[in-house]
Formats: sequence, C-alpha cells, structure tokens
Amino acid sequence: MYYSTILDNLGNTPLVKMELNNHKQAMNLYAKLEFYNPTGSVKDRAASYVLEKLLNNKEINYDTTIIESTSGNFGIALSSYCKKYGLKFCCVIDAAITDTNENIIRSLGAEVIKITEADSSGGYLLNRIKKVNEILVERPNSYWINQYANPYNAEAYYTGLGNELCEQLNNIDYIFIGVSSGGTITGISRKIKERFPHAKVIAVDIVGSVIFGGKPQKRHIPGMGSSMRPEILAHSQIDDIIIIDEVSCIFGCHELLEKHSIFAGGSSGAVYSAINQYFDSRNTSEVVDVVALFPDRGDRYTSTIYNEQWLRNFVVKEKTSSI
Ligand SMILES: Cc1ncc(COP(=O)(O)O)c(C=O)c1O
Repeated sequence: MYYSTILDNLGNTPLVKMELNNHKQAMNLYAKLEFYNPTGSVKDRAASYVLEKLLNNKEINYDTTIIESTSGNFGIALSSYCKKYGLKFCCVIDAAITDTNENIIRSLGAEVIKITEADSSGGYLLNRIKKVNEILVERPNSYWINQYANPYNAEAYYTGLGNELCEQLNNIDYIFIGVSSGGTITGISRKIKERFPHAKVIAVDIVGSVIFGGKPQKRHIPGMGSSMRPEILAHSQIDDIIIIDEVSCIFGCHELLEKHSIFAGGSSGAVYSAINQYFDSRNTSEVVDVVALFPDRGDRYTSTIYNEQWLRNFVVKEKTSSI
C-alpha cells in the first residue's frame, strides 16, 4: 500500500493512554495526538475537507484563488492542500505571526499579504477582514474560506475526527477541546453526543479571548482563542467552559513534556491544565474515560513557549502588568 501524496496520510492519528494519578478522581486519560497529521496539526482535516467539498460542489474551480485570514496552522494546512489541488492560495497574515509560521507558509508557496497596521481595537483582525474583502473585489474568481462561519469547517470534524474517536474508544465521559474558529468542537461535540449521549464536552479557551464573553486582552500564544465569537459555534453542544491563563498554559506544555514526553503546542498545554483544574474539585466513585485533544506539536513554539529568553520576557511583562 502506498500514497500518491503524503497529504493523503490524513487522520488515523495515535491515541495515547496517559498516566494522570494526582487526582482523587480515578480516570483513564486518552490523548489524541493530532500533530501526526501530514502538515503537523488538526487543521489538515478542515483544509482538506473544505477544499474537496468546494470542488465537488462546484462552488470553486481549479482557477479559483483561495483566500483566508490566518496566522497559524490553518494557513500552513491550506498552503499544502491548495498545492495538492493546484489551487492558488492567498494568505492574509498580520504582524503578530511568529517567524516560524510565516516562514513555513511562505516556503509552502502561498502568496502572503501581511497586515502591519493595527485597527481601532489595537489588534489586526478588522484590518485583516478589510483586506480580504478588498481582494475579493479585486479578483473576480476568488473564494474566502472564512473558517469562523463556514459550515464545512465543522462538518470536517463531524465526519472525520469525531467518527475516528467513536471508533477508537468504547466510551467517552469527558472530552476537552481547545477553541479558536470553533470548527473542531462543533463537529466533534455533535458526533460524540450521538454515539455517547452522556459524554460531557468541555471547551477550553484562553484569557484575553472573547469567544465565551471574556474581556479582550493581548494574547501571546498563537493557535487558541479569538478576537471574535465564531458563528459556527452556534451549532456546538458544549457542557462546560474552562478559561486558562497563559501562565498555566505554558506550565501545562512543560509538564506534558517532562512527565509524559509529549512535545506539544500551546493549546495542548491549555487542555492539559484544564483537565487538572477540572478534576481538582471533582470526584465520582466511578473511573471516568477522559479524552484530551492535542492539536499541534511543540516545534512551532520554539521561539515562544519553549524559548528561555521569551519566557523570561513574558514573566517580566506578567509581573509588571499585575503591579
Ligand atoms: C494549535 C491549535 N489549537 C486549537 C485550535 C482550535 O481549532 P478550531 O479552529 O477548530 O476551533 C487551532 C486552530 O487553528 C490551533 O491551531
């Protein structure tokens, strides 16, 4: 058996049973390692599914320019899968992108438009969206994926990752999922509750993100959270929300590496911390089956979470802002 392209080696990512026995609550903890997808993250699933759907439904053709505003894993995944289908990809990024992600997206051949001027809110989101709308007018055959509102984004996880988890496990009592566009949690929550109606879906977000009504605040860790509430979340089935601060997220990443040999990205550290926090105050007599979704690998965070200098500056900033 062989693939005609490595991008077809999508999904069927490993599930690892982790030891976590620092709580009164007895549990089986399963980590779903989504960074084993071909371009290194959970977003391969959305990129591949959305493009295939659009092509099959003739909503785009092979001359269409795909546009998306993204500074992270979705940009990396779309760059690769657009190339697979011979589509042009224009990626709108902003000045907050890490050098690593920008270099990967550029190396993968995407056209990159970088927004460097902050908008009235102090961030870049509004100017990024403005730029996307200008491109849509300038280029007649262009299509904005708009992951925050595109139902195919959630559908990718309902049919793909959601199904896979239901096949890999005989039971799920809890699943913890980091949120940004809301595609992963919307698709997975719907699928899992069909198969395991008692399962509790816990959304994990980061301080400074406004997804669940929090106050907007500068965020330093890419991948998680958002400056707007995603439209597709309206179709999710979420039981509980945990908001993690950036310090706990960083600690979570380092502990995952030290105790479990899992070198993972920021949202994985946040999910791991959320599980610890959640079960600190809970204890049922039964052993519960818990799933942690780990979206990407630590490599993309070697200039942030796993960088000593960055960590030192981060601690200084944190201390000054709390004085
Ligand atoms: C590292 C990481 N974690 C979590 C998420 C959240 O996934 P979603 O956009 O489906 O909510 C993303 C999305 O880009 C991500 O890159």
